[in-house]
Amino acid sequence: MRAAIAAHQAGADVVVVGKRFKKDAHTVLAAGGINAVLGSRDPEDSWQQHFADTMKEGYYLADPRAVEILVREAPQAVVELADWGCDFARLPDGQLDQRYFGAHKYRRTCYAGDYTGRAIIETLADKVEELKIPVIDYQYVTRLLVTDNTCFGAMSFNIHSGERTVFLADAVILAAGGHTRLWRRSSSRRDENTGDGMYLALQAGAEIADMELVQFHPTGMVAPETWAGTLVTEAVRGEGGRLFNAKGERFMEHYDAERMELSTRDRVALANYTEIIEGRGGPNGGVFLDISHQPKEFIVEKLPRMYRQFLESQMVDISKEAMEVAPTAHYSMGGVVIEPETHATRVTGLYAAGEVTSGVHGANRLGGNSLAEILVFGRIAAESAVEHSRDLRVQLRAPEVIHAAHADLDALIRPGEELARPLQRAVRNTMWQNCGVVRNEEGLRRALGRLSELREAAKLVDVRPSSEGWQDLAIALDLRASLTAAEATVLGALERRETRGAHNRSDYAERDQELQSTFVIAQDGDELTVSRRPLEAVPDELIAWLNDEEYQVAGRLLE
Ligand code: FUM
Repeated sequence: MRAAIAAHQAGADVVVVGKRFKKDAHTVLAAGGINAVLGSRDPEDSWQQHFADTMKEGYYLADPRAVEILVREAPQAVVELADWGCDFARLPDGQLDQRYFGAHKYRRTCYAGDYTGRAIIETLADKVEELKIPVIDYQYVTRLLVTDNTCFGAMSFNIHSGERTVFLADAVILAAGGHTRLWRRSSSRRDENTGDGMYLALQAGAEIADMELVQFHPTGMVAPETWAGTLVTEAVRGEGGRLFNAKGERFMEHYDAERMELSTRDRVALANYTEIIEGRGGPNGGVFLDISHQPKEFIVEKLPRMYRQFLESQMVDISKEAMEVAPTAHYSMGGVVIEPETHATRVTGLYAAGEVTSGVHGANRLGGNSLAEILVFGRIAAESAVEHSRDLRVQLRAPEVIHAAHADLDALIRPGEELARPLQRAVRNTMWQNCGVVRNEEGLRRALGRLSELREAAKLVDVRPSSEGWQDLAIALDLRASLTAAEATVLGALERRETRGAHNRSDYAERDQELQSTFVIAQDGDELTVSRRPLEAVPDELIAWLNDEEYQVAGRLLE
């Protein structure tokens, strides 16, 4: 929606097409905040320090060009959103309040309670409505239309009626999220973040990269099973929450005695994981996150959603009791390869922004940067797309490409011996068991074998649309995309023979300077190919800010 607003303001005709209701896209789940150097709490903060925190937390795999754009432009993006009516928390003098998030040197995370994503999406939706930008909900995009390496639109069907639509366009901006629903425990809901955005881009001829770099958030719910994986926001730790094991030890002392619970996300996730697998977990296989030392009024004001979430799901009052939590797949740092300055892919007319892309977070995302990313790069992708459209002198269209998109769907609708949901579940179990918080060669090879069996089974999936809707077809397409995204992830994880950020290889427990590069994946016929690409250098004037204390492996792989 941020991209659509920018495209409209630049004079283009634009339409937003999404698979859910526009006010219920995945962004509503983003909880704790959005980063912008405003200095309202800590005036000594600077964009250079935000740059340094992002690069360091990303273990130097982020593209410095993308990071610099993000941190320089985030303040304006946040202030603009506040001016559009976003309900950010404010200080008594009217400035936007800022809280601590893990691994930030200063308080720079703006927030609306613990429902920041919802506040943002509602503001954007209101703005879209005010500008009369059409939004078409419940559309499953099945294919990007491409001829001569030029994207000229997309095909979709309505999930309720099955009606197909061909959208012809000078440019398409993909803002379709990540692939973290491929893991058994995930902070994404059913049928979202299934890797379908990455799949669409690959099919169109774009590259994807660094799919193995998946952030496991340290604190997801563990019970009841239907809630397992649901995010317990980092804002709990930002507001003073402490982690304990079943023996009552505040174990972060052993992992990062200085930053404790506000250490980097990868470290806290690995610490939680280690405590659990070494047998110091609670009855539901988690560790304990406790904020009950804070006054109830404070908790209800700063963490209203968490307060309700635990009461509704477990009848636990977090102002009195600790929450049991464990790591959950949360964010895709890898994704579609784009040019940082334009967010263009290598397919003419195809742009991408947000979690579907790679490059800005490296091996571990700084909490609060993802909401900043969608605003800054949504706008930039749209401005580039509009410029491309203005410069066009010839609009390519290819009826045979549209026919092929219809034929692809027609071929999927047929009776079969398998159902897509259990196969999706099998993908999630495979990835959780073999490509989770800690990986090794043996498990990753096992995952590849299992994914290939599941791919065969997926060819027999029963798809029978009925008066109840076309969900069957959407789930079958999600499964197809998931299998490709999972394979790309495992291939990347096999190639990255090192431990770096969120990628922990128990058989390669150290960081390998030689591997400080991007692993790029392209589709060649039915095969995925992996190659290595060097990273851009950090500009000279920013190197001093990195103040590079050597990365410590000690304390990471305690298991
Ligand atoms: O914990 C959280 O609220 C998540 C924030 C983020 O992923 O940036």
